[in-house]
Amino acid sequence: MRKNIVAGNWKMNLDLEQGIHLFNEIQDLLKVELRGEQEVIVCSPSIHLNSLAKALNDTSKLSIGAQNCHQAENGAYTGEVSAQMIASAGAKYVIIGHSERRLYFSESSSLLAQKLDTTLKNGLLPIFCIGETLEQRNGGTYFDVIKEQISEASFHLDGSEYGKLILAYEPVWAIGTGLTASPEQAQEIHLFIRNLIVEKYGQSLAENITILYGGSCNPKNAAELFAQPDIDGGLIGGASLKARDFVDIIKALN
Ligand code: 13P
Repeated sequence: MRKNIVAGNWKMNLDLEQGIHLFNEIQDLLKVELRGEQEVIVCSPSIHLNSLAKALNDTSKLSIGAQNCHQAENGAYTGEVSAQMIASAGAKYVIIGHSERRLYFSESSSLLAQKLDTTLKNGLLPIFCIGETLEQRNGGTYFDVIKEQISEASFHLDGSEYGKLILAYEPVWAIGTGLTASPEQAQEIHLFIRNLIVEKYGQSLAENITILYGGSCNPKNAAELFAQPDIDGGLIGGASLKARDFVDIIKALN
């Protein structure tokens, strides 16, 4: 059975004090309100990871993730953070290939392939993001785009490695715009992604891969999105910065 997961991506928001405050608020709400089997991940700025790891209480359903890591193990890469550093800070997950990194930091599929390798080698679980731009959607090329993003960055992995991935479909046109993919639009792509994995790795592995939806997900639209058969949770940006909204989104996943 695949896992149902809601992950928050704080992006470059919140100073340390604000981050710890929000994290504790989320933990307190989850302790009282979380009834289901959902897993919850908070992906904070790397500099906050260790403080959040120390603030973790016994709410075992909450884990911590980073938003990026460098592809090299270590070395002369001033200002960068390695997968091993992230793991040693107490994180379990790392987002790889977010569209903001593809766009603003020119991250290519071949670079992301290396990042997936380094992440897995260091015992971290990747949340691997894919998604088309508005131009690609309107131009009708979005199936090809998604297929290329997935196959070029991740299909070199063997089955045992692939089974550790979480995928996140985040249409770029829906991120931070208030425009959400309709449940039907999102389901269409999620099923397409799962079928690509079936073709490459077989039915049983594909059935066990968690595929998240991300893009203007909020407490109002979450339940309808999560009700789709191939949507196994969400990767949440803006709404993960408010404890009440984030926890309501988590509760919409059952
Ligand atoms: P929003 O939820 O703010 O649209 O962001 C989605 C996202 O990019 C999560 O990684």
